[in-house]
Amino acid sequence: MKGFIILLAFACCSLQMIDATVRFSNMTYDLNPEYVKGTINVKVENGVYSIGMNCDLLKKIDGNFWVTPVFSKKLGKSYVPIIDLKLDTCKTDPTLAENPLIRFVSTEAKKFVSFGLMCPYEPGHYVVNDFTFEKSNALMNFIPKGNYHVSLTSRHQPPGSKELNKVMSLSFYADFE
Ligand SMILES: *[C@@H]1O[C@H](CO)[C@@H](O)[C@H](O)[C@H]1NC(C)=O
Repeated sequence: MKGFIILLAFACCSLQMIDATVRFSNMTYDLNPEYVKGTINVKVENGVYSIGMNCDLLKKIDGNFWVTPVFSKKLGKSYVPIIDLKLDTCKTDPTLAENPLIRFVSTEAKKFVSFGLMCPYEPGHYVVNDFTFEKSNALMNFIPKGNYHVSLTSRHQPPGSKELNKVMSLSFYADFE
């Protein structure tokens, strides 16, 4: 009986693992060489898709750091923005953002990064180590299955300055099935 329950528990969770898979594709990015040098890429290993980043930040970022994530969902033939907002990570910790999807994605992302998500960011080496959505995460149910496009642009406004410098932008597709 005990063995059966263990088997059942295992079956449930491996089913769930197959159930919630994310595939990342078509990663493109653009780094402002005055601020950042490095690479961002999608990796596939044993069917698990992840995003990695290996970058050097050349300038200190403080003051205001505007991040504009746009999440679009494929409806019919086109991708329709479902979240399009602007976040100053010098003022708001993204893991505490008002928007629940931003909060969820940031909390997940935090497990894979070597740095704090909140600004200021000191010059140095920044690594995102194979970011993926862990299949066992109950919060995965929070993201409806489907095809998504994600884009993100970040701009730095140095303290006391009016200029807004683009630091980086990236774009990729994420299919949840
Ligand atoms: C990704 O790029 C390939 C090659 O350019 C293209 O055929 C495909 O449609 C793109 N995927 C998405 C989801 O747009």
